[in-house]
Amino acid sequence: MTSPSEAGGPVVPGAEHAHASFAGTFTYSGYLHLEQLLGAQAPVTTAHDEVLFITIHHVQEVWMSLIIAELEAAMSRLATGDFAPAMKMLARVSRAQEQMGNAWEVLKTMTPSDYLKFRDSLGRASGFQSWQYRSIEFLLGNRQRYLLRPFAEHADAHARLLKLLESPSIYDLALQALAKEGLLAPTALRTSYDAQPVSQPDIRAAWLAVYRDTARYWDLYYLAEKLVDVEDNFRRWRFNHVTTVERLIGHKVGTGGTTGVGYLRKALDVVLFPELWEVRTEL
Ligand code: HEM
Repeated sequence: MTSPSEAGGPVVPGAEHAHASFAGTFTYSGYLHLEQLLGAQAPVTTAHDEVLFITIHHVQEVWMSLIIAELEAAMSRLATGDFAPAMKMLARVSRAQEQMGNAWEVLKTMTPSDYLKFRDSLGRASGFQSWQYRSIEFLLGNRQRYLLRPFAEHADAHARLLKLLESPSIYDLALQALAKEGLLAPTALRTSYDAQPVSQPDIRAAWLAVYRDTARYWDLYYLAEKLVDVEDNFRRWRFNHVTTVERLIGHKVGTGGTTGVGYLRKALDVVLFPELWEVRTEL
């Protein structure tokens, strides 16, 4: 119901016809499930910075959800040789990754002392248990079976990750496209996918042919560069994460039980699409 003060007073021109009744249709909050979304920001302490900590994790998980949907859609297009829409989707993945990168700047306004006010209340909770992060890694091809362990008590996430682990990664699909173009022998393609790919000379030679004749192999060349964009952004995420972690907890062990910065630094060495990086030296 409109109160007298809502009815009176100056109105910004153009706003006087704004709807006031929403019976039988969506409201803004209803459509976006805002009560659920904002209700999920539920700190377990009274520490001022905990809301920031939760918000940044939520923002990153929401972007990850979009990235997974776009990657999966791009992969189904690649599987049928439909390159143009797949490239558009991969461009969106890269832009979303950039947004994830910006979130660290906000998180870094929290100091080690601020974080210590609520860190103990996190128990064993850690990003190490982010099934969306692991899904992205598995989709991109960084596959290690031991990473399923934290999901042993989370059947849905475990089943989903296991399925991804045993399906082709986006890089496997790119290699299949090289084979369809006659640049790679079908025997060079893997038939089981549950391990990280290792660099192979014949795959490197196939990409070299693409980069040496970009006009002829434009689709493959464009795909290769889009994949490099995604890996470039992924590396930046890892670097920003480990730097933020060191800034906040130094070399303390992680709440997830790993050595913390030591473990995260090792992950900086992971290469998702090895031959795409190596080919640059040989060109
Ligand atoms: C106060 C800020 C943060 C600290 C101190 C921190 C600390 C850590 C540590 C120590 C690990 C290693 C695993 C462990 O033993 O816990 C880790 C892993 C991880 N964290 Fe964070 N983190 C922070 C913020 C974030 C944010 C905002 C995200 C976004 C979702 C995130 C996502 C992850 C992911 C996905 C992993 C697994 C990385 C991998 O296995 O390669 N972290 N974090």
